[in-house]
Amino acid sequence: MPDREVTNILTKPDVALEMTLRPSLFSEFTGQAKVKERIEIAVQAAKQRGEPIDHVLLSGPPGLGKTTIANIIAKAMGANLKSTSGPTIEKAGDLAGLLTNLEEGDVLFIDEIHRLQKTIEEYLYPAMEDFKLDIIIDQGPNARSIRLNLPRFTLIGATTRSGLLSAPLLTRFPIRERVDYYHADQLQQIIIRSGRLLNIEIEERGAMEIARRSRGTPRIANNLLKRVRDYAQVRGDGRITAELADRSLELLEIDQNGLDEMDKRILEAIMFKFNGGPVGVSSLAVAVGEEPDTIEEVYEPYLIMEGYLNRTSQGRVVTELGYKKLGLLKPAGKQPGLF
Ligand SMILES: Nc1ncnc2c1ncn2[C@@H]1O[C@H](COP(=O)(O)OP(=O)(O)OP(=O)(O)O)[C@@H](O)[C@H]1O
Ligand SMILES: [Mg+2]
Repeated sequence: MPDREVTNILTKPDVALEMTLRPSLFSEFTGQAKVKERIEIAVQAAKQRGEPIDHVLLSGPPGLGKTTIANIIAKAMGANLKSTSGPTIEKAGDLAGLLTNLEEGDVLFIDEIHRLQKTIEEYLYPAMEDFKLDIIIDQGPNARSIRLNLPRFTLIGATTRSGLLSAPLLTRFPIRERVDYYHADQLQQIIIRSGRLLNIEIEERGAMEIARRSRGTPRIANNLLKRVRDYAQVRGDGRITAELADRSLELLEIDQNGLDEMDKRILEAIMFKFNGGPVGVSSLAVAVGEEPDTIEEVYEPYLIMEGYLNRTSQGRVVTELGYKKLGLLKPAGKQPGLF
């Protein structure tokens, strides 16, 4: 099943920008306090024992820092990081090649691990658990399986869709962490840090203006910062004040609370096609043309955090704030047709 990309111009990574701005130490990594502390403890404990850290699974919506955390872990462990991604491992032989080239203590990072083929995933089980790899050599009557010993390594998997991972794979990750959307004051700190690294003059209130419209996402915050810098340079004196940031974001038609197209489509579908809810996620998915688990794992968490959507046992309901957000009033009562 092809995976629909959940990116638009703002969530799309700018590779060069991310290289410059990606924090390489836990001390530079803002937010996700609990995730950070738990991982720091695991890193320190593993180092004290002189062992590689246990396998880590990082999940959460795009642009929130999964790849960044994987890099920070490898660096903190003093380990080499080898990077690959689920869809690029096409044959069992590709995986075998990667695993047999690892050295003791290396970190193997598999991005989009939910897109790993089932047959390949099965080779990972003994590799993760016992550091063994069973490979089949020859074909037909001569075919036989041989078992290779692998060095002790750490697998770090990242996924935007942990709901698609099979139970056997999930349970082989002793450390599982979910990154969540950032609050505006944390994004403000991230923007101020990025501004410093890019030599941009930015006032605290200017940073806040950008933070509020970044959909809880550091990647969007950094991308917007670049756009606002352009505006400041051409239409202003280079300095990003609150007023300038506001004007610039207005011109870019960035929503006040950073909602993107799909966020709005979801809210509108519930309001207009399902009378405000409750509606089950599968009907909603059909109505907006998206996959149910993308809605659950990528879009809903933000809408719920901002208070526009509620998840009840009967389904999703748009809140009063959600109606207000789109310039409407929540209809009183639940009589269909009244609205
Ligand atoms: N906590 C943070 N503090 C500072 N900057 C951050 C933080 N998290 C992410 N960033 C910035 O956002 C960029 C995107 O983060 P990252 O690539 O780690 O996201 P991701 O979760 O791997 O996204 P995807 O699912 O699309 O791969 C990073 O390059 C970094 O500049
Ligand atoms: Mg990533």
